Amino acid sequence: MTEIFTLAHFSDVHLSPVAGFDWRYWNAKRLLGYLNWQRKRRHVHFATVADRLIADAQKLRADHIAITGDLVNLGLPAEYEAALAWLHSVGPPDEVTVVPGNHDIYSHLRDDRGIARWAAYMDAEEETLAFPFVRRIGPLALIGLNSAVETPPFVASGLLGARQLEIAREQLARLGEEGVIRVVLIHHPPLAGMTTPRRELKDAAHFAHLLEREGAELVIYGHNHRPAVDWFPSRVKPVPLIAAASASAGAAYGEEPLARYNVFTFFKSASGLRIRHVVRGLEKPEGPVAKLSEEVLDATA
Ligand SMILES: [Fe+2]
Ligand SMILES: [Fe+2]
Repeated sequence: MTEIFTLAHFSDVHLSPVAGFDWRYWNAKRLLGYLNWQRKRRHVHFATVADRLIADAQKLRADHIAITGDLVNLGLPAEYEAALAWLHSVGPPDEVTVVPGNHDIYSHLRDDRGIARWAAYMDAEEETLAFPFVRRIGPLALIGLNSAVETPPFVASGLLGARQLEIAREQLARLGEEGVIRVVLIHHPPLAGMTTPRRELKDAAHFAHLLEREGAELVIYGHNHRPAVDWFPSRVKPVPLIAAASASAGAAYGEEPLARYNVFTFFKSASGLRIRHVVRGLEKPEGPVAKLSEEVLDATA
């Protein structure tokens, strides 16, 4: 077996502090989000924890880092700026790929350019920020979907939309014919029933249909702040769907564990592609970043 590529997968860093309030950005969604942050989330998510996990991935010399959204909390301009500085600390744009989460496209921003600040990490020019995008990185094709849409208070659902689904279908078909390793990045859990109706991907049935038809070698996502491994039976071969927990959790919260991230190592063997999936993270809040689990994702098994 020959190792060909290593991809680290982070999600839901919810970078703190929440800063940069201006009367222009206050509305019911942000007010309720801010109260939730003050009461609960600021006791869970710590940028210092995310930095420790990122340092661990850098030490492992992962070939690329994928971040599946929720970099910020209330979608404020100052948060986008801080997150861009943080992305620079993670790596240059050709080594890091981002897709947005619902907290990144949170609420009305007037004429602020929002996530367009991160365009270089989404392989897009600022003027033409478009999803889905495809980034060819080594033997991989990263297909970046945007499932985030503005929602009312207490709603964190997602939507891909017909146009994005159609382009993704064409991309998956073309890249599948080419034989590259297709890795789909999406913030929301991609299938129906993976979370509550208020938090789910509204067109999950359409996404399932295209995945069933075109297949993919790996789908990675976040949003639930909980790790998960599922298999989806496509027409071609089973597709592993892997969630990352929050990479900044310095405290467990309900069913959400302490911070962790995924490392995928891709191997070529006589029987085809093999993916080793390692989870690294914290066992104790102040403990070291360590390997928590390891398995081989084998679509032929
Ligand atoms: Fe999140
Ligand atoms: Fe989310």
